[in-house]
Amino acid sequence: METIVFQSDQIKQAAALLRQGELVAFPTETVYGLGADALLPESVKQVFAVKGRPSDNPLIVHVADFSMTKNFVESYHPLTEKIVKNFWPGPLTLIFSIKSGSLSPVVTGGLSTAAFRMPDNKKTLSLIEETGAPLVGPSANTSGKPSPTTAMHVYHDLKGKIAGILDDGATEIGVESTVLDLSGKIPTILRPGAVTKEKLEEVLGIEVPLDKHLVKESETPKAPGMKYKHYSPDTQVLMIRAGDWEEALEWAEANDKKVGLLATPRIADQYQSADRFVFEDDSIEAATRGLFGGLRALDEANRTDIIFAEVFPEDHLGLAYMNRLKKAAAQKYFTKK
Ligand code: TXA
Ligand code: MG
Repeated sequence: METIVFQSDQIKQAAALLRQGELVAFPTETVYGLGADALLPESVKQVFAVKGRPSDNPLIVHVADFSMTKNFVESYHPLTEKIVKNFWPGPLTLIFSIKSGSLSPVVTGGLSTAAFRMPDNKKTLSLIEETGAPLVGPSANTSGKPSPTTAMHVYHDLKGKIAGILDDGATEIGVESTVLDLSGKIPTILRPGAVTKEKLEEVLGIEVPLDKHLVKESETPKAPGMKYKHYSPDTQVLMIRAGDWEEALEWAEANDKKVGLLATPRIADQYQSADRFVFEDDSIEAATRGLFGGLRALDEANRTDIIFAEVFPEDHLGLAYMNRLKKAAAQKYFTKK
């Protein structure tokens, strides 16, 4: 199959393919998604096949506005209106209990709840409207690869396997949306993202807990997808704490290991390395935006034996950055002898 890269003025062509049951990757503010019409179970099945994704991992239903969720949702949490008003469109996925039979079990993994998100990308909102149906959209990478933040990343992983990619440049945020469970009494964060715990608490005026597995590693995550080993490059990744760079690089030198640096200019400007991917500036926003692309670039260049990645404090957006980095690094930090 030829994979057509659509420019952002070719929404009608891309929507026509989706209506025919084909798969088309779409841009969002977080990462690129692998789109299929959520109401066509055969197409949704293809999404799992193409990604190599386990079938018990349910998908997000992307809508063009809040009213599109009403056909599916059984009951809304009392805070829904406030949350939607403040954070949609945006990087926040909401879990609701659904009317039985309203969505195929292929979409929900057979659960009585489903995930909904209105992405903050005009092209994709038009694409959903033009298709006339919500779109499922897991990240448009091969399972186990970092999520794609450019159309090129999608093309690299899925060319020949999907009908099209709607190209809208690099994504702004760089990690997947926050997943907030609204199916129970207490809104709970199942996956950290750019709508942070602190922002949610400020707007809602209540404490918004993290799912147990985000606090304690031995707990089973409530979002099925969080249990899989994600975002892992083939090259080993070590996380480097602020005071440890000098020693970590000395250790690499002594052991003849070629280092790929993944760091802010603040760190990268001080040290030599065989290869490097430097974030646009020293902010956590720039680091989060660059993380997946940086991991891909350093991994695929095959010039390095080990990637040294900068750590950030685990609060605000840093919680989302560290959640993804820790998975890529299999939790490993460089430690001094
Ligand atoms: O930013 C994003 O969310 C991107 C873009 C494309 O929108 N999409 C994305 O999809 O990251 P995916 O499939 O990679 O992640 C969806 C997450 C998974 O961890 C999945 O297990 C969880 O949401 N999820 C979906 N339905 C759920 C449900 N009913 N209950 C709990 N977790 C659910
Ligand atoms: Mg994913």
